[in-house]
Amino acid sequence: MNFDSEKGKVAIVTGASSGIGKAIAMCYAEHGMKVVCSNRDPVKGQETVNEITALGGDAVFFQTDVSKVDEIQSLINFAVTHYGSLDGIVNNAGIGMGGSPLHEYTLEDYDRIMDLNLKGVFAAMKYGAEAIMKSHSDSGFIINISSIAGLMPQSGQSLYTTTKFGVVGMTKAASIEYAPYNLTVNAICPGYTVTPIFGEAPEQAMAYFRSNCPTGRMGEPEECAYLALFLASNMARYISGAAIPVDGALSAGQRNLIQWKNPEITQ
Ligand SMILES: NC(=O)c1ccc[n+]([C@@H]2O[C@H](COP(=O)([O-])OP(=O)(O)OC[C@H]3O[C@@H](n4cnc5c(N)ncnc54)[C@H](O)[C@@H]3O)[C@@H](O)[C@H]2O)c1
Repeated sequence: MNFDSEKGKVAIVTGASSGIGKAIAMCYAEHGMKVVCSNRDPVKGQETVNEITALGGDAVFFQTDVSKVDEIQSLINFAVTHYGSLDGIVNNAGIGMGGSPLHEYTLEDYDRIMDLNLKGVFAAMKYGAEAIMKSHSDSGFIINISSIAGLMPQSGQSLYTTTKFGVVGMTKAASIEYAPYNLTVNAICPGYTVTPIFGEAPEQAMAYFRSNCPTGRMGEPEECAYLALFLASNMARYISGAAIPVDGALSAGQRNLIQWKNPEITQ
């Protein structure tokens, strides 16, 4: 087993300025990977890079709006030019959209979330896979950040659920295509995770999310990052086409009322 196998690999992380993407970028750099941090917002994106370099890591920022295909192409070209090759891409950037029944969403809502959460992932996989194969990486990887909404449909989130199921489908189909070429393709499906994606959600809503979690707490972004690190390492070369939940058992099944005969064993 080689616990250092990810060291020196070059990876792009989209949406690296906050939440799960930032945690992945920081974790990759901490373990010796070279990271192209991409984001729409140059100020916040550069902040992640500054934090990484202050800790002795190797990272560079490239501004990208992942809803724009030409910007994704430029991002991938930049990564290859800057570091000379590309081993992996983490398609993390995405937006949430929730709280309404399907008929209340507009066609503009549809276009906005599809362009970003689905077409953006498609384009990054398309150009990313080409660049990774042209780099002759012997251990390439694509990691798409889906959601438990990509495994278990969420009411009030018909459009978000559609994009995240789409990401899982695209991941699985592509994993078969690239399996012979040293390129793994997996999806990480976070459960409720403490990040800015919840915006100004009222405490009542956050308490509801927490109470839904079998663990009684939401996840931390780093808990997704540890899986992303493992999937980037050479210890995960036989894991491909998987959609792996990081959700404290939230998507494992329906909770029921149960009565313990000996509850004192937990005290
Ligand atoms: N936090 C959760 O509970 C949760 C649960 C399941 C899935 N996810 C998924 O995790 C991913 C990361 O979300 P997060 O929770 O860290 O939220 P976040 O809001 O902290 O991060 C989203 C990132 O995407 C970037 N982004 C948004 N639009 C962009 C665009 N057009 N171009 C480039 N970058 C853009 C943001 O700037 C930010 O860096 C998303 O795909 C989200 O759907 C999150």
